[in-house]
Amino acid sequence: MTAISNEKIPNNVNLSEDKKLQRALEQWQPNFLEWWQSMGPEGFQQRDIYLRTAISSNVEGWAHYDYVKMPDYRWGIFLSDQVPDRKIGFGDVMGEPVWQDVPGEHRNTLRRLIVTQGDTEPASVEQQRLLGHSCPSMYDLRNLFQVNVEEGRHLWAMVYLLHRFFGRDGREEAEGLLERRSGNPDKPRILGAFNEPIDDWLSFFMFTMFTDRDGKYQLLALAESGFDPLARSTRFMLTEEAHHMFVGETGVGRVVARSAELTKQDPNGDARKLGGVDLPTLQKYLNLWYSLSLDLFGSEISTNAASFFAAGLKGRANEDKHYTDHKAIEGVYPMEVPKTGNAMQLEKHEVAMRNAMNEVLRDGYVDDCQRGVDRWNKTLEAAGLSFRFVLPSRRFHRAQGIFATGFFSPDGAPLSKEQWEAKQSDWLPSAADKTYVKSLQAKAVVEQGKMANWLAPPPKGVNAKPVDFEYVRAEA
Ligand SMILES: [Fe+2]
Ligand SMILES: [Fe+2]
Repeated sequence: MTAISNEKIPNNVNLSEDKKLQRALEQWQPNFLEWWQSMGPEGFQQRDIYLRTAISSNVEGWAHYDYVKMPDYRWGIFLSDQVPDRKIGFGDVMGEPVWQDVPGEHRNTLRRLIVTQGDTEPASVEQQRLLGHSCPSMYDLRNLFQVNVEEGRHLWAMVYLLHRFFGRDGREEAEGLLERRSGNPDKPRILGAFNEPIDDWLSFFMFTMFTDRDGKYQLLALAESGFDPLARSTRFMLTEEAHHMFVGETGVGRVVARSAELTKQDPNGDARKLGGVDLPTLQKYLNLWYSLSLDLFGSEISTNAASFFAAGLKGRANEDKHYTDHKAIEGVYPMEVPKTGNAMQLEKHEVAMRNAMNEVLRDGYVDDCQRGVDRWNKTLEAAGLSFRFVLPSRRFHRAQGIFATGFFSPDGAPLSKEQWEAKQSDWLPSAADKTYVKSLQAKAVVEQGKMANWLAPPPKGVNAKPVDFEYVRAEA
C-alpha cells in the first residue's frame, strides 16, 4: 500500500515495471488535469472537500476518507483481483481461458467498447460542472464532487486499458476522450444522454438514479468479458458506481419525501405553493431521464450485441447466477415490434436470443429501476397520498431502437405525431417546469447543516459523520 501511494499515478497494476507505459500515462496525466481544471466542477477547486479515495482494491481497505482539494485527488488505476484460472462464461468461446491480451480479431471491437464506455465518464463531469453553484446543501455538494472525481477515475481506468493494450490507436483514443465535449455540436460526446445538460439538481438526482444505473448494467456486462483486464477494471468500477446510484435514489427519495410533506400542508395539495416540487413534475423528470437512459442500451434487436456475445466480449449481467444456458443459441425472446412502414401497429416477433441481448440487459435494468420507484411510492403511501410514480413504457420517448420512429404514450399506446405533440408537455418537463425547478435553486445552500426547502435532509451523513458535518471547508 505504501508503494502505491508514493507513485505519481497510484495503481495496482505494477506500473513501475513497465517504464514505457508509465511514461505514456505520465504524459497523459497533465492533459487530464488541464481538462479537469477547465471542464471539471466550476468553482470549489481550491476548497478542501471530504472525499473518499481508492487507494487499493482490497475489499476492506479501498475507501479512504479525508479532506482533499479536487485537483489533488489521487486518481489511480485499480483492477479488481485476478480470479485464478478464470474461464469465459458465455458465447461460442464458453469454457476457454480468458485472454490477458487483446485477440487480434477483436481488437477494433474491444477498442470501440472501451472508448464508448470511457467517453461517458468525462462527459458526465462536463454535464454537471455548474451544479456547485445551485447546491441544496453542503452534504449534497460533497456528494456531487465525490461522483465527479470518481467519474474522473473511471476515465483513468479506460485510458489505462487503451494505453496498455492498444498501442498508438489506443493513445490517440485516449487523447480523443479529453477532446470531445458534452453538448458541443462540433465534437459531441458519443452517446445521446451524455450531451443533455444537467443544470439543475433534480436532473442530477434523476441522472444518477437512471443514467448511472445504465452504467451499472453496461459494467456488469463488461465484467463478464473474456478480455480479463477489462473484466477486472469494470468490476472495480462497479464498487464506486454503487455510490453514484445511492446519491440518485436517495436524492430523488428526499425530494419525494419533502414534496409529499408540502403536498399535504397546502390546502389545495399543491407543493409548488409552498416552494416545493409538485409530484406530477417529479413524474415528468422521471419520464425524461428514464427514457433517455433506456436508449443507452441500444436497439432491441441487434446483430452487434449478438456478435459481442458470441465472441465472449460482452455478456449478460450476472451471467453465472442468472442463467443456465450460457450459449443462448436455441432460445427466443418474444417481442412486440412496430410493423415495417407503420409504426402505429405492433406485431409479435420471436427474436433469436442472441439478437435480443440488449433487451435482456435492459430487462434487468427496468426491474432495478422499478425497485427504486417502489421505494419512493412507499413514502407516498406512508404520507397517506394516493399519487404513485410509474415507470413509463419502454416505447415512450425513445430515440434509439425499434420504437424510435413512432410515437407512444407513457403506457405504451401508439400515437399519431399530432397526438404526441398535443400531450408532450403533460409527460415531459415543459420549459415552464424547468424554469420553475431552477428557480428553487437560484441560490446555493452551502451553510453547514442547512438544507434547501425543496428536499428533506438525508437520514445520515457520510462515513458515519453527522449530516451537519463540515463536508466542504470554507476557503482558507
Ligand atoms: Fe462511471
Ligand atoms: Fe457513475
